[in-house]
Formats: sequence, C-alpha cells, structure tokens
Amino acid sequence: MRLSGDVILITGGTGGMGLAMARRFCSSGARVVLCDLDPSSVEKAVKQLVSEGLQVKGYAADTTNLESMKEIVQKVVSEFGALNGLVTAAGIRQTAESVDKIELETWNLIQHINVTGTLVAIKASTEALIASKGSIVTVSSVTALAARMNQSAYCVSKAAVLSLTKQVALELAKHGVRVNALLPGVTATPMIEQAVRTDGPKVLEEKVKGSLEAFRPGIPLGRLAKPEEQASAAEFLLSQDASFITGIALCVDGGVSMLG
Ligand SMILES: NC(=O)c1ccc[n+]([C@@H]2O[C@H](COP(=O)([O-])OP(=O)(O)OC[C@H]3O[C@@H](n4cnc5c(N)ncnc54)[C@H](O)[C@@H]3O)[C@@H](O)[C@H]2O)c1
Repeated sequence: MRLSGDVILITGGTGGMGLAMARRFCSSGARVVLCDLDPSSVEKAVKQLVSEGLQVKGYAADTTNLESMKEIVQKVVSEFGALNGLVTAAGIRQTAESVDKIELETWNLIQHINVTGTLVAIKASTEALIASKGSIVTVSSVTALAARMNQSAYCVSKAAVLSLTKQVALELAKHGVRVNALLPGVTATPMIEQAVRTDGPKVLEEKVKGSLEAFRPGIPLGRLAKPEEQASAAEFLLSQDASFITGIALCVDGGVSMLG
C-alpha cells in the first residue's frame, strides 16, 4: 500500500497508460482522479473502475486549458482535502513525416499538447502539491534521448517534457515536492496500436507489417512493455520509496535506451 491515503490526478487518464496507472494506484491505497478530453470516455472509464471496487472520479478537460485544470484541482482539494500526486500522461503521437514535409500546424499542435499541456497541468497543481509536499511524474518517452525516423515533432516534444521536468524539479525542491520523468519505451496501448495500423511502415522503415510484434527485434528484452509496467514505475516514483529521488529520467523500455 505504497500510496495509502494519497489523492492522485492523472491527465490522459482514459488512455492505455492512464487506466493502468489508475488501477495500480488504487490497488496501492490511493484515490484517483482521471482527466481526459472526451466526456463519454471519462464517464465510461470511471464507471468501469468503480465497478471494480476502485475509488475513482473523473473530469473531462483539455489539459492545455489552464482554467479547466485549475477548476479540477480546486474540486479535488475541496472534495478530498488534498492533492498528493500528479501524473501528466496526456499526449498525442505524430503521424510519420520528415522534417521537410511536416506542416507547421502539426508541429505546433504536438508541442502544444505534449509540452504546454504538461506545463499547464503542473501550473494548475503546484500550489496544492506544495501544500501536501506531493510529487509529480511526467510522461516523457525514450524518444526524448535519441532520434527516431520521421518523428521529429514527437521526439522534440518529449525531450522538452524531460527538460521541463528537470526545471520544475529544481524550482520545487525547496518546497519538498519531487518531480520525475517516466520514459516509456514502446508500450502496448491504443496509441501505439493506432501508430502501427496507420503508418507503421513509414515510421519503422518498412519493417512493420501492421503488427505490434514487429517492434520486438529492436528491444533487448524482446517484447513490448505492458501499460502495467509503466504504472508500477510511476507508482514507485510517486511513493515514499522514492523519497530522495527528484529530477531523474526513469527509462522503462526493455533496454532500448542503452543502445543509444
Ligand atoms: N505507448 C507508447 O509506446 C508510449 C511510449 C512512450 C511514451 N508514451 C507517452 O505516454 C503517454 C500515454 O500514452 P498512451 O500510450 O497511454 O496513449 P493513449 O493514446 O492510449 O493515451 C493518451 C491519452 O491522452 C489523452 N489526451 C490527448 N490530448 C489530450 C488533451 N489535450 N487533454 C487531455 N487529454 C488528452 C487522449 O485522449 C488519451 O486518452 C503519452 O504522453 C505518450 O506520448 C507512450
């Protein structure tokens, strides 16, 4: 029960990782608040998790909207008394496109949601997290550390999330708030399933024929991550087991990052 009594807010909470995190945190004794874009998906996810006996609430909001995010944090604090943890899992992927072809509109949208959205969720939660001496886990990616073919906007956005994480960790350390980045490798979630379906061959230089299994050869441990494996790493970072850890990048990638 590493998160016993904690209240944790997860952006992108109805996504593959968000849902796995909600289940994991609840099973560790936390109460979880999900936030995601689509009201009906939020409602469906909350219904499902509550039917599993978990203590979950949900709000529909765009994580790039500061007023909406502040409102959610206010509701969380007035209902539960505190906010102890924030996980910024909301994000979008990039359709495969080379640097010379990518539309500026696409580039800006990816930076806006992945980077500004992370910043906004953090800004909205900072006061509450200082009050609780809480913790933040951002969701960056191993693609923050190395180039990926035709994925410049996504890779740059995730590198920016990692840099932002260190920046915020430095600024909040004096308040006892820890801030760390989770860097997942390829993880079997709707995001990656869609990527394989729509433009796998372009991203992976013709190696993929519409199957998640095609990622395996590039991963030293020989398989994709399960969302639950990202959730357990996030739980560790949020918990007191990580009480002297701040500003780090935790790769959960089956060894991909050691290859450079
Ligand atoms: N799946 C992977 O292989 C992988 C690898 C590395 C990093 N990541 C990152 O992990 C995070 C979670 O991804 P996932 O794999 O669970 O994908 P997912 O698509 O299943 O979940 C992402 C969620 O973010 C939500 N979202 C998007 N824009 C939003 C916005 N403006 N406001 C609120 N919510 C918004 C989506 O609705 C979705 O539910 C993302 O940031 C992603 O970039 C994923």
